[in-house]
Amino acid sequence: ARKIIIDTDPGQDDAVAILLALASPELDVLGVVAVAGNVPLPLTEKNARIVCELAGRPDMRVFAGCDAPMVRKLVTAEHVHGKTGLDGPQLPEPTMALQEQHGVDFIIETVRAQDGVTLCPLGPLTNIATAFERAPDIVERVEEIVLMGGAYFQVGNITPAAEFNIYVDPEAARIVFGSGVKITVMPLDVTHKALTTQARVDAFRDMGTEVGRMVAEWTNFFERFDKEKYGSAGAPLHDPCVIAYLLRPELFSGRFVNVEIECGSELTLGMTVADWWRVSGRAPNAMFMGDVDADGFFALLVERLARL
Ligand code: BDR
Ligand code: CA
Repeated sequence: ARKIIIDTDPGQDDAVAILLALASPELDVLGVVAVAGNVPLPLTEKNARIVCELAGRPDMRVFAGCDAPMVRKLVTAEHVHGKTGLDGPQLPEPTMALQEQHGVDFIIETVRAQDGVTLCPLGPLTNIATAFERAPDIVERVEEIVLMGGAYFQVGNITPAAEFNIYVDPEAARIVFGSGVKITVMPLDVTHKALTTQARVDAFRDMGTEVGRMVAEWTNFFERFDKEKYGSAGAPLHDPCVIAYLLRPELFSGRFVNVEIECGSELTLGMTVADWWRVSGRAPNAMFMGDVDADGFFALLVERLARL
């Protein structure tokens, strides 16, 4: 099985991504590391534990990583995810414990100790960049980074120019995109094609399981924001695209291009400047996805989540 570390700020869509990973035998989830993002760290680490327990995996190791971006103040997204970050269904208090080790140390130690680890960031890139700064020797040992973040044609969701995960910690994103590691990006261009229409939400509920009901209620809650905002058929289900790519890469298509992160301009802070038309002459550094087979993606989700 492919070894992965999930780095996350749950978030309803992060929760679905974690469930998808834990339901998939092709993936060996070595640990889940929380980061501050959608909501502050004490909530994201707690939410990560709730989700692992919901998946029947109280044995999964959950770590707390960084509680703030590298140099900036934390920006959160309660307006999308609610006060808890996982608003929607009634949630139990988690009983499994948080690991004592700092999440960044776990990442460093694990990448040093194990061959072929893939990192799956689903939130701001603070933990990953901090690990790379603290332990430069691990950079060349990382197999691949598959992340949700950025936008090109679809531009921004937190500002007109920037996607949330990159905007929150652009300096961290710059470090990661400049690292030389193989990077695959699931930007808004992809995730805004993976829409939770009413029929798709119903398919989760119709699974008739606790997980199905939770996912239906989460996607319903989450939908409230994006439906109104973008006038689309449903909400983009961002983070599960990362895990789906690991399972079924043929569902996605994109281009290997240069991607640079804007860290200076106030107006376009956190913009992912993707050289889609290859006009800059700068060396490509990331596989920037642009399209997804949305029906295939949701079929995979339903098939896998039904196993939990
Ligand atoms: C990203 O930001 C968060 O709100 C979501 O969980 C996703 O990771 C989308 O911009
Ligand atoms: Ca997220």
